[in-house]
Amino acid sequence: IRMVLIGPPGAGKGTQAPNLKEKFCACHLATGDMLRAQVTAKTPLGIEAKKIMDAGLLVSDEIMVNIIKDELENNKECSQGFILDGFPRTIPQAEKLDSMLADRKTPLENAVELKIDDELLVARITGRLVHPASGRSYHKLFNPPKKEMTDDITGESLVQRSDDNAEALTKRLVTYHKQTEPIVEYYRKTGIWSGVDASQKPGKVWTDILKCLGQK
Ligand code: AP5
Ligand code: ZN
Repeated sequence: IRMVLIGPPGAGKGTQAPNLKEKFCACHLATGDMLRAQVTAKTPLGIEAKKIMDAGLLVSDEIMVNIIKDELENNKECSQGFILDGFPRTIPQAEKLDSMLADRKTPLENAVELKIDDELLVARITGRLVHPASGRSYHKLFNPPKKEMTDDITGESLVQRSDDNAEALTKRLVTYHKQTEPIVEYYRKTGIWSGVDASQKPGKVWTDILKCLGQK
């Protein structure tokens, strides 16, 4: 499969992507997770990116396109297909992705939008807990870990993302509506768009995504 997941902060991209990865044996490329790995490693990009992420703004198209290009070319897992989560996030990123994939004769097949009203996202974002090494996310109320503040699989500690507060979320939503939402129209025009009601329970969102992909 070759697809992108589109949706505002907290829509459920990172929650649904692992299901897709397993079902289709594809790689899950989450640009936010990649940037957070750079932040943890304190690389020059990480130091710069942390300021931008905490302010709810976007890292430059050039940097992000190069990161994805490198993964698609060199990550062996991606040869079976890929699920992009958090990329593209602007029209120029979408255009660059299309030309990159056209060169490889492997065009995008699906762009699935996780649709949800902004009001529902505050509770999701402020209650989220993440396992930094894997990108797995939990929720204090909606999806609690088995043991408090502990990842179910590795037993390592869970943390809150530094951009997961109401103030940063407001800025992230402005950025989403202004810079990212136009890509929905972009993919509608190419005919690969489909939308899912992402306010439903995670299991229902998952079966609806499979319907969009023509699977049962
Ligand atoms: P990124 O990490 O991509 O953040 P985001 O887009 O804001 O998305 P989130 O990770 O917050 O939401 P999600 O949809 O994955 O939600 P989740 O499934 O975890 O990007 C961070 C930053 O990096 C950006 O702001 C930007 O600065 C930079 N960046 C990244 N990519 C970039 C790019 N291409 N260009 C430029 N800059 C870039 O779910 C959220 C919570 O809700 C969880 O607690 C979960 O358990 C819960 N939940 C999920 N589904 C449900 C449900 N159905 N019902 C109830 N609860 C649910
Ligand atoms: Zn995410």
